[in-house]
Amino acid sequence: MGSRGSNVNVLVIGTGYVGTTTGLVLCEKGHIVTGLDIDDKKVEALSAGRLHFYEKGLPELLKKHLTEKNISFTTDVKTAIEQNDLIFICVGTPKNEDGSANLNAVYSVAKMIGTYMNKYKVVINKSTVPVGTASKVTTVIEAENGKVPFDVVSNPEFLREGSAVYDALHPDRVVIGSSSKKALEMMRQLYAAENSPFIETTPSAAELIKYASNSFLALKISFINQLARLCDNMQVDIDEISKGIGLDHRIGPHFLKAGIGYGGSCFPKDVSALITIAKAEGMDLSILEEVKAINQSQPFYFLEKVEKVIGGLDNKSIAVLGLAFKPGTDDTRESPSLVILDELTSKGCSVKVHDPIVTLSNPYVKQCKDVLDAVAGVDAVLLITDWEEYLKLDWEKVKSTVKQPYVFDGRNVLNKQELVKFGFNYEGIGKP
Ligand code: UDX
Repeated sequence: MGSRGSNVNVLVIGTGYVGTTTGLVLCEKGHIVTGLDIDDKKVEALSAGRLHFYEKGLPELLKKHLTEKNISFTTDVKTAIEQNDLIFICVGTPKNEDGSANLNAVYSVAKMIGTYMNKYKVVINKSTVPVGTASKVTTVIEAENGKVPFDVVSNPEFLREGSAVYDALHPDRVVIGSSSKKALEMMRQLYAAENSPFIETTPSAAELIKYASNSFLALKISFINQLARLCDNMQVDIDEISKGIGLDHRIGPHFLKAGIGYGGSCFPKDVSALITIAKAEGMDLSILEEVKAINQSQPFYFLEKVEKVIGGLDNKSIAVLGLAFKPGTDDTRESPSLVILDELTSKGCSVKVHDPIVTLSNPYVKQCKDVLDAVAGVDAVLLITDWEEYLKLDWEKVKSTVKQPYVFDGRNVLNKQELVKFGFNYEGIGKP
């Protein structure tokens, strides 16, 4: 038992954004948490109250729970595993070349857990893992642990970068996949403070819920993004369509914002992983192949517009606003901006970039600290990440510094009427 009443001691293995967020939110619920990582630099930084990534609200939680001694960080694998009864696996599951999920980190953590398993424990897969991984993790642990009883549980996370703390504190549902009554009881105790729906199901169903959830969200985005192209042709405002269909409670208003496409470390990886999982079963999820194809082509559709409107890209000076895959994070993994930068530089443009948080090491583009430096003297301004800063920009002042008055709004978030009033030619995606 932890020193805070009827709460438990929890070990979180992997102190990335999922592990650190999960651990600190468990502290908020009164538990005592140990964060374990093999990277001593990360452990050192976290122990000193420093995060190695940007996530709103997390620095404050880290400082609070370090001060209250509810969380500590270590590289001592043996002690950490021996001293905790609930062990979360929160390590990365990046995409392999063939689209499948790379589980090397998950299996090496499972091996460590088996090696140092000194008494009954519940091993909890928080990482996004293919269907059937819980039983594979069980096999890996059994091979090491000399018959000490344990259970493996699937407990997928649904955290969005930039709002991970909020999402972890207010989950729409808690999904637990386990066939062990004892493990389910311990998980109920862990999430006792939760007043969200609690789904108890099989490990495989829990694993599939995660992939299906992300794939459906990605599908909504690709649907509205392809419809936005039709709206361009029909001179219809895609945001009016989103509003009109989103009021149907069966559809809902969320994830219907048309733009340049989704990025991040999850949607692209999880859509590919689910396609691969289906293929391994000899099944075909062609709908997700289309979701992926639409998303991969959306930045090119956007650039075709730019090329047509400004009369070619060669020798043009372009400002790209936004590098992160979405606002509120410093994560550029699979960010549409990276595709845009590659295309523009390969087509002979001189490119200046700005992002409020991300610093990019790309020798072919000039990163500017100030937005006005980025837009000075350019032939076109491309908004790629909908940072608040760009919505509040003094666009009248921008108009006085650009060489040509072209704005391309990759997230359909700028005020077209205002920009036209300042003398800009405004182009969105599905925005007549
Ligand atoms: C996503 C899921 O939302 C989360 O539940 C899961 O745990 C991890 O993957 P994340 O990738 O962090 O979270 O961000 P999210 O807010 O979902 O946005 C993903 C991408 O979709 C971003 O590039 C965003 O710009 C884009 N997006 C989102 C749209 O293009 N349109 C929308 O309407 C919503």
